[in-house]
Amino acid sequence: MAVLVIDGPCRLCGEVRVHGAKNSTLPLLAACLLCRSPVVLHNCPRLTDVDTSIKILRHLGCIVQRRKDDLWVDPRAVCGSTIPEDLMREMRSSIVFLGALSSRMGQARLSFPGGCELGPRPIDLHLRALARLGMDIREDHGELLCSAPGGLSGCSLSLSFPSVGATENILLAACCAKGTTVLHGAAQEPEIADLCDFLGKCGARIQGAGGSTLRIEGVSRLTGCEHTVMPDRIEAATFLCAAAATGGEVTLSHVIPRHILPVTAVLEEAGCRIQEEENRLRITAPPRLHAVHAVRTMPYPGFPTDAQAPMLSALCTAQGTSMLTETIFTARFKYVGELLRLGAHVKVEDRVAVVEGVSRLSGAPVMAPDLRGGAALLLAGLCAEGETVIDGVSHIDRGYEKAEESFRLLGAQVCRLPGGRGEEKQSLL
Ligand code: EPZ
Repeated sequence: MAVLVIDGPCRLCGEVRVHGAKNSTLPLLAACLLCRSPVVLHNCPRLTDVDTSIKILRHLGCIVQRRKDDLWVDPRAVCGSTIPEDLMREMRSSIVFLGALSSRMGQARLSFPGGCELGPRPIDLHLRALARLGMDIREDHGELLCSAPGGLSGCSLSLSFPSVGATENILLAACCAKGTTVLHGAAQEPEIADLCDFLGKCGARIQGAGGSTLRIEGVSRLTGCEHTVMPDRIEAATFLCAAAATGGEVTLSHVIPRHILPVTAVLEEAGCRIQEEENRLRITAPPRLHAVHAVRTMPYPGFPTDAQAPMLSALCTAQGTSMLTETIFTARFKYVGELLRLGAHVKVEDRVAVVEGVSRLSGAPVMAPDLRGGAALLLAGLCAEGETVIDGVSHIDRGYEKAEESFRLLGAQVCRLPGGRGEEKQSLL
């Protein structure tokens, strides 16, 4: 199994381009199922989760071709309505195929989704909303058997929590439903607005994109379009936290600064200088960060749960004590145990982590427990003295395209050993 080997510490300097957003690409690929002609998606990141979505589309009968960062999806020959369990288990986002597939085929058969272990991740909000739209859903031996032979019908819906995935599923199911759907309490994450933008180009009638109330007027069919995936705000936040943690000076290109405001606000509080310029963001970090008051993860436009781990990692070597509260997932501090191996002083109680900044970290072998936890370990390895070896790299590959290459570009000494620790270090440069 591949590992990443980091020789630290380093000071990150230079410019890096932010890739297309994973959490936008995945629902966009599911949305392709609704179209009756080919779709071209530009700026698609090369990630294992994207590969899984492609496998699902191909399994259902789509033709999918990649040309550099573009994906060409031809959904005209979609014929299947079953997604195999092994593909469902590979990622949580496989569940967004439910709304699109049921709408396109009038039925869907799939199992409960997998994905990062961040605590229980129920899909009750998805299922309740889809049932209200007219889907008959039966659960049998871990499988969901869904059918809507007479088609779906719009209605008024309200989410008790602004779930990103449930909002996406409702949008996908409602676009071609009969009549109008009004969704109250929708998630407002930029990835939802990107999905609405794409669906609008395909002929969907959606009002309120980016807000908490969405009004979707059903149309009979969607046609393919060309669309550029929005920049990945979480990858951008991760680069910023890495620059901050290493006292660096980094410019990000292809970024939407307003999407990352809650993160840049915390980094400014920690002593960093942030300069914005259209689609670029420059961070200049002090030699040592100051602790920050309190960071609390919240649905957008609050501080993103996906940036909690990189931020905590950066604060491990800050001067003073910081507190981070995780409100979205129940078990998103698993990586903290690994940070302790590097010499971090962090105490976690339930959903609160108290980080007592230390003056130095020291390299050690660690294991990435999930995607963002893996990124946190990578950041800590950049700050730590000596060698850090990160196992469980497949988690990192789910959300960061060639992370080691991006960080090497910024001056870090990171390399991947595809065969694991036993293998001799090889630079991929
Ligand atoms: C999306 O997951 C993202 N994934 C996650 O990114 C992100 O952390 C999360 O939104 C929150 O921003 C993708 O977009 C592919 P939710 P999702 O439904 O849709 C509870 C990353 O690292 N809930 O908004 O699964 C749920 O248990 C990942 O890139 C229910 O109770 O998130 C959680 O506590 C990981 N019932 C909370 O809501 C439901 O039916 C937020 O979940 C649905 C959700």
